[in-house]
Amino acid sequence: MKIIKVKDANEGGLKAFEIFKEALNNGTQVFGLATGSSPITLYQNLAKSDLDFSDRVSVNLDEYVGLTADNEQSYHYFMQKNLFDAKPFKKSYVPDGSNPDANKATSDYDKIIEENPIGLQLLGLGRNAHIGFNEPGSSFDALTSKVSLTQSTIEANTRFFDKEEDVPKFAYSMGIGSILKSKKILLVAYGDAKAEAISNMVNGPVTEDVPASALQNHPDVTIIVDEAAAAKL
Ligand code: GLP
Repeated sequence: MKIIKVKDANEGGLKAFEIFKEALNNGTQVFGLATGSSPITLYQNLAKSDLDFSDRVSVNLDEYVGLTADNEQSYHYFMQKNLFDAKPFKKSYVPDGSNPDANKATSDYDKIIEENPIGLQLLGLGRNAHIGFNEPGSSFDALTSKVSLTQSTIEANTRFFDKEEDVPKFAYSMGIGSILKSKKILLVAYGDAKAEAISNMVNGPVTEDVPASALQNHPDVTIIVDEAAAAKL
């Protein structure tokens, strides 16, 4: 893994922007995108740049089950507001959280990923080292599936909702197997709440108890961390 240490999320956003720019200029066709607060500084830089993604495709990692694309708490909506309104892609895919048929929603998404192999996948990191919504114990071979969120993830995500009961308990998420198929991976993590997960991901054993440790098996991973997130490395 290549580790880039930065002062804070703003500097991280600039570094991540350079990596996206290089990928765009190198002809990367499909960008895997992520939600959460960590990618926001990157998206701000992309949004105000003159880069043109209108002939490229984006594929997002995950979506809450039960939320429609126009729900303000959905990841669809997050992407629209934080990136796509300013920087449209030719086609942008997010799992269909409004489809109650999990088999169909997930197999449709696997087909999309198969038809659009991801050149650069952006990832955030959960406090328990989850990537996408792949919680500890997830198989490293899994493709897209319906997952139930752990209590710690529900608590962490409560800040985006009025109250904890409103946080959906399930999500459709690309699996770790899908993520590992991406040609390049870029993970961004900031703040001391991520320090333990970063240390386990980089230096700990490769184990399903630490979903992000699967990235040790991938040949081209870059991580951008601030001083607080790198504190236990
Ligand atoms: C959610 C998302 C993840 C994201 C994580 C961390 O659980 N499904 O993709 O990485 O939150 O979010 P944040 O960057 O806000 O800490």
